[in-house]
Order: sequence, then structure tokens, then C-alpha cells
Amino acid sequence: MTVVNSTPAIESRQLNIYYGKFHAVRDVNLSIERNKITAMIGPSGCGKSTVLRCFNRMNDLIPIARTEGEVLFNGQNIYADTVDPVQVRRHVGMVFQKPNPFPKSIYENIAWGAKINGFVGNMDELVEESLRDAALWDEVKDKLHQSALGLSGGQQQRLCIARTIAVKPDIILMDEPCSALDPIATLKIEDLMRELVENYTIIIVTHNMQQAARVSDYTAFFMVDDSRTGHLMEFGPTKELFTKPKHKQTEDYITGRFG
Ligand SMILES: Nc1ncnc2c1ncn2[C@@H]1O[C@H](COP(=O)(O)OP(=O)(O)OP(=O)(O)O)[C@@H](O)[C@H]1O
Ligand SMILES: [Mg+2]
Repeated sequence: MTVVNSTPAIESRQLNIYYGKFHAVRDVNLSIERNKITAMIGPSGCGKSTVLRCFNRMNDLIPIARTEGEVLFNGQNIYADTVDPVQVRRHVGMVFQKPNPFPKSIYENIAWGAKINGFVGNMDELVEESLRDAALWDEVKDKLHQSALGLSGGQQQRLCIARTIAVKPDIILMDEPCSALDPIATLKIEDLMRELVENYTIIIVTHNMQQAARVSDYTAFFMVDDSRTGHLMEFGPTKELFTKPKHKQTEDYITGRFG
């Protein structure tokens, strides 16, 4: 299939997500532009992580979760019966809130996923390239065979990013990737995101308004209604959403009067 670059990187259509009987998120129509950073913001429980997990079928791992609607990746619905969720996750990688390196060496953290995904090239080169791209190489090049658990939190998070980009995904999902990090480590990750977006599409969930304003090109603001169902309230270029929000709830949230 030819991929036309003007098509969205990924797009949800009438996405509805349930946990058992609970309607967690309703009617989300969201189109994510390629090679941009899109931030998802909103009060706790509005469904940011739930929606994010739908973009690579991570919700499949939660037995009571049920998804309705479509998520189109390169024009194909990733929820179609014929689609293998493992393949989806190859193309749409994820970085979590708490850095979660494997209890193995720095080298193995990167090599393992690549091997599983059938990488047959020069592993030393792939490890170096991934660590360089994650702005970690200089800090770890002399201790590649030491445990990843000996790294600082910020270094561990960059290692997790290196591990994600080693399999060359199209999209990187990040769920509050800096919330366990100090301000300096946080800024390093933000700088890194701005570099990575040259080659990847990034979607980040963040509670930090300054971070969303600093790092993202587009912002999606989610809210909850009285029955606690989350929905997309406002979506647009970050500059516009932060300076001229269309809804009072958006303004209240970004100015810290709510949430
Ligand atoms: N595994 C689950 N089982 C049942 N309910 C869940 C599950 N995960 C999330 N929920 C519910 O779905 C709703 C949305 O949760 P979600 O974690 O997506 O919110 P969030 O916006 O990411 O919140 P936060 O900012 O606190 O991370 C909440 O009401 C939550 O309690
Ligand atoms: Mg969350």
C-alpha cells in the first residue's frame, strides 16, 4: 500500500471504550498529524490513557475493556479481525510513566526487542544508533554491558525511548513520560522529543500544562461528563488552544482553575 504523507498518522472514528458496563470514553474523533507532537490533556479519569492505549491495542490486554469504532492507521482499521495486535505494536510503540527497563544490560534492553521483531542486521550498530537517537549514547557507551537498573530515572526513561525506536515504529505513544523525573531530566526528554519528531509522530499524555505548551504542536483537551464518561472537548493547534480556547472548561483547566 502506498502511504500518502498528507494522510493522518493515525485517526480515531467514533471511538467508544467500555470497561465492563462503564462507558469510559465516548465518540472520540481525533486525527493525528504526521511528524508532529500531539498532547492529550485533561483532568484525572477523563480517559487520556484509555484513548492512548487504543492507538496500539494495548487495551486488548485488559480483559474487561471493549472498544467500538475505528482506529485507522495508514488507512486501515487496526481493530479489524484480520489485524494482528502484535504487528500494530511494532508500528505504534509506547513509553510508560514509570521507566521500565528490563533487568538486563543496557545493550540487551535494546537488542532484545529488535531480535524478537526479527532484526538480522548489525546489532552493535543498531544499539549505538538507537542510543544516539535517544540522546543517551555518551552517558552509557562505556558501560553497555552493565545493568540498566543502575541508570538514573531520566537515563532509564531515555533507554526506554531508545528501546522503542530500535524497532523503528511510525508512532510513539508516551503516557506521562516525565512524571517520575526531575525538572532537568524532564527538559532533556522534551528536547529529545523535539528531535525525534523529525522522524516519528508522537502522542504524549501530560498533566503538566507548561509541558504541553512547550513541546506539542497540537493539543487535545478531554473532559468528563456527569456520568464520568470522558470525551474530547477541544482539539487544535497548541498555540490557539492555549491562547484562544473555544470553551470555558478548556480555559478553566489550562489556567489551573479546574482539575
Ligand atoms: N483497567 C480498568 N478497569 C476499569 N476501569 C478503568 C480501567 N482503566 C481505567 N478505568 C476507568 O476509566 C476511566 C478513564 O481512565 P484513564 O486511566 O483512561 O484516565 P486518565 O485520563 O488517564 O486519568 P489520569 O490522568 O489519572 O491518568 C476512569 O474512570 C477509570 O477509573
Ligand atoms: Mg492516565
